[in-house]
This record gives sequence, C-alpha cells and structure tokens, in this order.
Amino acid sequence: MNIRYFVLAALASAAFSCASPKPEGTLGAGSELDRKVEDLLSRMTLQEKIGQMNQISAGGEVAPYAAAIREGKVGSILNEVDPVRLNEFQRIAVEQSRLGIPILVGRDIIHGYRTLFPIPLGIAATFDPELARTGAALAAAEARPGGIHWTFSPMLDIARDPRWGRIAEGSGEDPYLDACMAEAFVRGYQGERPGSSSLAACIKHFAGYGAAEGGRDYAGTQIPERLLRNVYLPPFEAAVKAGAMTLMTSFNENDGLPSTGNAPLVRGILREEWGFDGLVVTDWNSMGEMIAHGFTPDRKEAARQALEAGVDMDMMTFGFLSHLEELLKERKVRMADIDEAVRHILKVKYMLGLFDSPYVDPAAAESALYTEDALSAARRTVAESAILLKNEGALPLKGVRTLLVTGPMADSPHDQLGTWSFDGEKDRTVTPLRALREQFDGNVLYVPGLKYTREVRTSFPEVLEAARKADAVLAFVGEEAILSGEAHSLADLNLIGSQSDLLKALKATGKPVVAVVMAGRPLTIERDLPSCDAMLYSFHPGTMGGPGLADLLLGKTSPSGKTPVTFLRTVGQVPMYYNHNMSGRPYQNEKLLDEIGLEAGQTSLGNTSYYLDYGASPLFPFGFGLSYTNFAFSDITLDRDCYGKDDVIRVSYTLSNTGQAEATEVVQVYVRDLVGSVVRPVKELKAFERVTLAPGERKALSIEIPVSRLSFYGRNGERTVEPGGFLLWVAGDSATGEPVPFEVR
Ligand code: NOJ
Repeated sequence: MNIRYFVLAALASAAFSCASPKPEGTLGAGSELDRKVEDLLSRMTLQEKIGQMNQISAGGEVAPYAAAIREGKVGSILNEVDPVRLNEFQRIAVEQSRLGIPILVGRDIIHGYRTLFPIPLGIAATFDPELARTGAALAAAEARPGGIHWTFSPMLDIARDPRWGRIAEGSGEDPYLDACMAEAFVRGYQGERPGSSSLAACIKHFAGYGAAEGGRDYAGTQIPERLLRNVYLPPFEAAVKAGAMTLMTSFNENDGLPSTGNAPLVRGILREEWGFDGLVVTDWNSMGEMIAHGFTPDRKEAARQALEAGVDMDMMTFGFLSHLEELLKERKVRMADIDEAVRHILKVKYMLGLFDSPYVDPAAAESALYTEDALSAARRTVAESAILLKNEGALPLKGVRTLLVTGPMADSPHDQLGTWSFDGEKDRTVTPLRALREQFDGNVLYVPGLKYTREVRTSFPEVLEAARKADAVLAFVGEEAILSGEAHSLADLNLIGSQSDLLKALKATGKPVVAVVMAGRPLTIERDLPSCDAMLYSFHPGTMGGPGLADLLLGKTSPSGKTPVTFLRTVGQVPMYYNHNMSGRPYQNEKLLDEIGLEAGQTSLGNTSYYLDYGASPLFPFGFGLSYTNFAFSDITLDRDCYGKDDVIRVSYTLSNTGQAEATEVVQVYVRDLVGSVVRPVKELKAFERVTLAPGERKALSIEIPVSRLSFYGRNGERTVEPGGFLLWVAGDSATGEPVPFEVR
C-alpha cells in the first residue's frame, strides 16, 4: 500500500479550520500543568480535539501534510527525522493552525539513535541496568536536539520463543530482569524529570505480544490472567511506576481480545489498577487490524472500541479522525473519554516543553551525534554484553602473530547494527575487521569465505589456505540484520547457509578457531561448538561492535555477559525457559534414545518429563556466561531463618576470583517458593549485581531482597506473599549453586 496516499486520503475526509492565538506557557508544578491543559482544552473545538488524537507517518516531504496540520488534524507524526523538515512541520502547526499546538514527533529509537548500542537483548545480557540507563540517556541526548520527542521503546515483551524475530527487541525471558531494564530505559530516556532534553518513553507492546503462538509474529496468544499478571505484566508495572509517559497497545489478540480493544486490560489494569495517566497509542494500524481479526465489522466500530478500551491516540488507522465525531453524535462514545484522551496528549506535550521550544537548531542537532560519550558507552556495552560460551584456552588471543579474520559478519557494517537501526549509518560503523586491523599488534589476514550469512558454498579453498598461514582464526558468523526483528520469525535456528561448514573446515586445519556469533536471537549452535576452541556470542552489537569485541578478544577486558534467555540445543525444545512451573514428574536422569533397549517395557523409562532424544536440559541455561577467570561462591548465609512479610532478607556471600584475570561476575539470587496456593516456578530470579574482582581477590558481600518481592498472584487472584518454606540460591547462573532454606511467616 502507498502509505502517503493512504494518509492523505484519510486526512481529506474530515474538514475544518479557524484561527486564534497560540497558547503560551512554561511547565510549572503539577497543578500548573493541569491548569494549562484544562485552559487549552476548553478552547478546542471537537475537531481539534480529535485531530490531536491522530498520528500519521509523515517522512520525506512536508507539503503533502501541510494542509492537514494547518487544519489541526494531526497531533503527532512519526518517521521524519530531518531537523529542517521537522522545524517546517512545527512552524505550520505552531504559527498557522488556530491554536498553535506543536506536533509530538515520534521515532523508533530502539537501541540508540545514530550511535547504535547492541540490540536490546544484548543490552539485557549485560545485567547492568545502570549502563542501560546511560545508553538510553545518550540516545535521548542524540535525538532530542534534532526535534524528536518520543521513542517507541522500551519493548517489554517477555519472550520464551527464539523463533520469534522480535525477541531481539526485548530483555528476554525473565520478568525480574526485564522489569529492571524497563525501569532503566524509562529513566534514561526521560531523565530525572521529563523536560526539553528528554524523550518520552513508550512502553510496548501491551500486552503478551511476545507469546505469539509458534513464534510466528502477529499470531495470537493464549495467556491466562494469572500467567499474564505473574510473568508478562510485571515489567510494564515497573515501567509505569518509574514514570513512563506513554504506552503502546499490541497487535496480538489474547484469548480472543485484541489489545487495542481490550478494555479490561487497558482501562482496567493499566489505568484503574495501576493509575497510569499517560498517553496510550495504538500500534501501527492495530485499530484497523481489529477488522482483519474479525473482532469489529468496520473501522467505525474499531474506533469506538479502542476509545472505550482507553486508547488516546490512533497510529495510522485514521479511525478516530474519520469516525469519532459521528460516533459522538450518535451517542456511541462519551465526550468525557475524548477529553480525557486529549488531556493525556497535551500533558505529554507540555511536560516535554514543546510549547516553549517547538523548534530546533539543525547545527546543534548535528553536533549532538556520535559524541565521545556515546561512542565509548556503546563500546563498553558491547564488551559487557558479549557472552563467552566456550573457551578451551583460545581466548584471549595470546602469542598470535598472524591472525586470520574470516566469516560473513567480520566486515558487515549494515548487518552488525541489527534490527531497528533506521538511523544508524553504515559508514560510521566500526566492524571487527577494522577494529582488529587498528588494534591487533600483528599481521591480519582477511578472507571472508562467505559474503553474507545465507550464502551456500561447498568448499572454502582460499580461506583454508589463509588459515594455514595463520596462528589463529577468528570466524565471525551469525545472522544478517534482516533475519530478526518484526515479522522475521524463523523455524530453523541453526547457523544459516554454509556457516557451520566453514567452521568445520577451519577446525580441521588444526589451528585454534574462535567463533564469534553476531545474531538477533539465541541460535541453536550446539553443532558448531565442536568446530571451535572458543565461542563468543554477541547479539548484534551496533556501531561500536568492532572495538567492543576486539577489547574482549585481545584481552583488554574479560567477558561478563550472561544469557538473558535460555539457549536451546534444538528448536524442537521450544518453549524451554528456566522459570517453568514445578512438574509432578520432574526429570531424574532417565535413559536417552541410544540407551533404551529394544522392546523395553512401556513404563521402564521412569515416566518423567523429558525428551527421549534431547533430555531435559538446554544447551546453556539462563544467566550463563564464562569469563577469563573462575569465580567461586562460599559462605552463603541469610541474616535470619524466618522473615515477616514486610522484612528485608539480607543474603551474605563471599565471592572469590580464583583465576588469573581481573573480571566481573554477575551474581544472581534465585528463589523457589516450596508450596503455593497455585503451582510455582522451580526458580525465579529475585536479585542480581555485578561484582568486579582482581585475580586472587576475595570479597565478603551482601545483597538485599525485600520479602514483598516474593509476592505473586495466587489462587485468590490477589498479589500476596504466601507464608511457608523457600529455597534460595546465590550463583553465577540459574542452574548451579546449593540451596539455602528460609521461611516466611
Ligand atoms: C510497528 C511495531 O510493532 C512497533 O513496535 C513500532 O513502534 C511501530 N510499528 C512504529 O514504527
């Protein structure tokens, strides 16, 4: 469909125009803000109100949209980033529309604006919310001077299925990690107090979108309310508490209700229960898609249901613009709901200082890009996020004089940026090849072997010849950017094309082979582990991917990234996640296929929960990642045996660096609630912290967990901490450690 044609046709269908002075004002205290909003609202016509509730995609040109903006039919635009054109848009809105209300400008700034950080799944792998906050603040510092006010980020969808391409955009499978990252992103974008240097965050996609059936994007979800509340909603609630100014409804229907028309979810849980008074925007045409879902017969009814559900702004359906006036006349919607929606929108505009300074200085916008701060934070994030999955002494590179750099991702600036990198620039991206050529003290040979990840070849003679001349091989493999992200689901998660063959052939040369995987999701790389001596897994690392990875490969810093999602052996294990419910028949090391005798009795295998061919374990558990040293945990104790519901558990432990390198361990605390009114997960992450130790250093540390963090929605539908026995683990991943018991009374 020609989007521009669609936009213009929709805009032409409602007509009005008048002229009056623009409102003035600066943001004051809460009541002052309300006064300004009410004053402006009282001067708006119905059509002007409805116009504010309309968001259009308006990139590339101004003229086609000028009349609509002048007539007050556009409250927000997305997809324009040129500061000169944005000033023109604002000039029409501010100086030529009757009330002079500035336009709210939105953009998908998902992992940085121009300076791209690792994709969000990579940021989650740092287990470093403070670094995530810094990255989001730097993204705001790059984008806001250019006239962008609003980012459609962070994505808070819990994802337990790596086939889903959008797993790249979130923080993985764990509600607690996701909630910590949610809060960090919101605080980073918005700053201490939203204002003229902030971006408004938009938490999305509300809700449950990550549970798309079969990992197929846009497929329906079947999440019962308790699971929704215990697993999928906590990151959203945390972000709302952190002050998220806006929220986006999701595409999916859950149990038959599309989110954009889901009043119990949006008006009920979000607005009434959590008290969210920010702006709710639909996803792109998700109002219109309620027709395709067969949930509403037409766009008019879709608009009615969306407003009733609590939606304030319509992204690209033009349902509000075209039908609200008529619906109001027919008394099918309430004026109070329209007013409330407009209040939410105006409030965001006032809070962000749009009325005070709608224009930007294009020169200042330019100089805000690629600052030293942004580049170095991006590089540090790459180094903290890469996960060392295997190392038989090949890393860090030592005593190597000639290094072969190979593989389709070694010098692929576009692909290393990953999904949602609209504003990233290939030319400003530093690839591993370039970084190694600059930083490696020796001879770098480069033979790509495969030009792109999907390429199929039967042999690699030129690569193998170069390998024979080298002391070590670095093979950069993975996924092109286009293979993950929205609408990019995969059913096969093995390394694509001939990449596994390339690794195998390299290994056969006998030279040390280091595989560096750059991907948008956890691929099933079990078959590739024997083909390398070390494997470093980097989710698409962004602009500074090269230098950040080189820092690790050359041993300037030690890997500390941890898997934010379970890595599977085979796609047939999906869904497999660490915090699954306790089974009545947990796996007890039963026999696998090749151990089962012929004509063995039906019940001879023990009847427990596992796959005959793949057992019960993933390839790497949640929270896993090696470093260039070893860590040991000891003296794990709790300050008491028994706690009240308002107490804080103080967990003491000693961490020792028993190896030869300075490194950081992500200390993780897991808890199991032994008996619940409903079946509980085998383990849940309840706290984590990054601890850096020098070689041989040993430190006594402690970490606090409020007992209230053990609460969940049980049989009575309320969130409570249920008294009883618990187990607690302190470990470097979700699969190791010795449990310590405690009780809650
Ligand atoms: C659709 C995507 O689902 C959403 O995440 C994004 O923010 C909007 N398009 C706007 O580009």
